[in-house]
Amino acid sequence: MSFLKRMYLGTVKPIKIHHLYNLYLKGHARYIQTYRERMDKQIKLGPQDSRWRPRTPRWTRIGKMQFRFLVQHGLKPEHTLLDIGCGTLRGGIHFIRYLQPGNYTGIDISPEAIKVAKQLVKEEGMADLRPRLLLTADSQFKEFSGETFDFLFAYSVFSHLPPEEIEETFQNIGEIMGKNSVFFFTFKPADGRRDIGREMRFNFRYSFRFFQELARKHGLDIELLEPPSAHNYPEKKRMAKVTKGE
Ligand SMILES: C[S@@+](CC[C@H](N)C(=O)[O-])C[C@H]1O[C@@H](n2cnc3c(N)ncnc32)[C@H](O)[C@@H]1O
Repeated sequence: MSFLKRMYLGTVKPIKIHHLYNLYLKGHARYIQTYRERMDKQIKLGPQDSRWRPRTPRWTRIGKMQFRFLVQHGLKPEHTLLDIGCGTLRGGIHFIRYLQPGNYTGIDISPEAIKVAKQLVKEEGMADLRPRLLLTADSQFKEFSGETFDFLFAYSVFSHLPPEEIEETFQNIGEIMGKNSVFFFTFKPADGRRDIGREMRFNFRYSFRFFQELARKHGLDIELLEPPSAHNYPEKKRMAKVTKGE
């Protein structure tokens, strides 16, 4: 019996499980609903307790790292960028400053994240850089119909999503990519031989094989990047690169 099932049946002492998460486990709620609620709550915590409040030391450090990564991988001011799960603009704040006006788009499922992000743009005097900050409900990208982005980025998003939500991204992302577009995403590697590792409330681990299979199924090319030599990504995340191929 899986750990989750044992936890659900009460044979493992549960860490208090949120009502919506229970509904998700029972198959009555879409995961994204529960995760959205959790993000909203976490962001609303004060700056001491929430890692998502802008300008905390960790927020600043990880945001700068995201920026360095994309610039090292070819992001130029004239490029367009879609920041999937932009949160409270940890990376976004740097991308907005660097890119030409109108070239940054951030989407998130959390209304609170988008609210804080918009407020931050105002406070930083960046409104004239015209970032697009949009609330989204899923990973179908319908709001971008007919549009493509040069760079697409999902930092610390798939490590919080179950397989079916990730598959929705792979199914639809090709529609908003041109032949030179690149999509970078992080994930937490599963230990051992399993493709889908143990799930612990809002944290999911996958093998790279899991993503390779999704890419193959949806006609995309995928490559696992070496961890940076000087420092690994926080929490031993790995970075992968997806292209549309020929
Ligand atoms: C762990 S946070 C990381 C936020 C941001 N990338 C960063 O590094 O600060 C994950 C974010 O992804 C958002 N998210 C999760 N699934 C999403 C989806 N399918 N589409 C858009 N945003 C999503 C969450 O609401 C949350 O803000």
